[in-house]
Amino acid sequence: GLSPGSGGGGGGFPSVRPRRLRQSPAMRRLVSEVRLNPADLVLPLFVKEDIPEARPIRSMPGVYQHSRDSLRRAAHEAVAAGVGGLMLFGVPTERDHCGTTDAVLNDSIADVIAEVGKDTVVMSDLCLDEFTDHGHCGILAADGSVDNDATLLRYAEMAVAQADAGAHVLGLSGMMDGQVGVVRAALDAAGHTNTVILAYAAKYASGFYGPFREAVESQLQGDRRTYQQDPANAAEALREVALDVAEGADIIMVKPALPYLDVLRQVADAVDVPVAAYQVSGEYAMVEAAAANGWINREQVMMETLIGARRAGADFVLTYWATEAAGYLD
Ligand code: PBG
Repeated sequence: GLSPGSGGGGGGFPSVRPRRLRQSPAMRRLVSEVRLNPADLVLPLFVKEDIPEARPIRSMPGVYQHSRDSLRRAAHEAVAAGVGGLMLFGVPTERDHCGTTDAVLNDSIADVIAEVGKDTVVMSDLCLDEFTDHGHCGILAADGSVDNDATLLRYAEMAVAQADAGAHVLGLSGMMDGQVGVVRAALDAAGHTNTVILAYAAKYASGFYGPFREAVESQLQGDRRTYQQDPANAAEALREVALDVAEGADIIMVKPALPYLDVLRQVADAVDVPVAAYQVSGEYAMVEAAAANGWINREQVMMETLIGARRAGADFVLTYWATEAAGYLD
């Protein structure tokens, strides 16, 4: 008979030509393995307390600290573009040791729920770093270390306040041990049995959060390496994810996205809950900066990074491009 590759349909060139399936936009669209829909994109939004109008964030061109009014407008624009959800971050005018100045976030949750709460999923960041005068994601012990268990009590209070304000989903981004279980119990005890927990299960101590620190005017000195994960570890991410799922996480997240696509793939293969990816501020900023220099095609790279996260296993992606990217999709 014919040997493979001899040309008689035996499995090799010239009868086999992968390029056949790439010959036209219509053909490529037909055989596309993953797709991106507006509903797969979630827009993070920053709202700053008591400012009359939106302020640009220098290291994130096109992203703003919103006023109450501009937040409403941005929420409507995102919903009109069809995004799957919004993730709110609060920036207070004052900070304290225990991060009790989170009223700005609870108020904006209520605002956004009133505006678009029936049309999209409203999520809020559940963490202390935006509100503490030391910038850490938890309460500090006398020796300056982050006190895990004391922090959980604050997370429980914040969770109930955010759910009271109407948030559909709470994004637990603090990387404290036991946070999912404690927050679930607090929500249930307060009657918020339907509030969804999105656990930032595998969150790395990353340099890619740099521009976010400007966005929330972070007071942090030092780093978060005693609670966020070491970039060298992937098996540890699976362990974190398993713990969060066991504690009742409804959705889990890997963060950042681009430098951790291997982790995203492993996590997506390991769990049966939805998996999200967070394309963080530094991923956004580096593409914007390169594009502003004319070194890359901005829109092409934007869409490539987003489909890359989907291909690696993300069911949805948090991205500062959500509204714009949704506009390029069907
Ligand atoms: C913590 C939090 C951070 C981000 C989201 N939630 C900052 C951090 O952990 O240092 C970063 C998001 C981004 O960089 O876009 N509240």
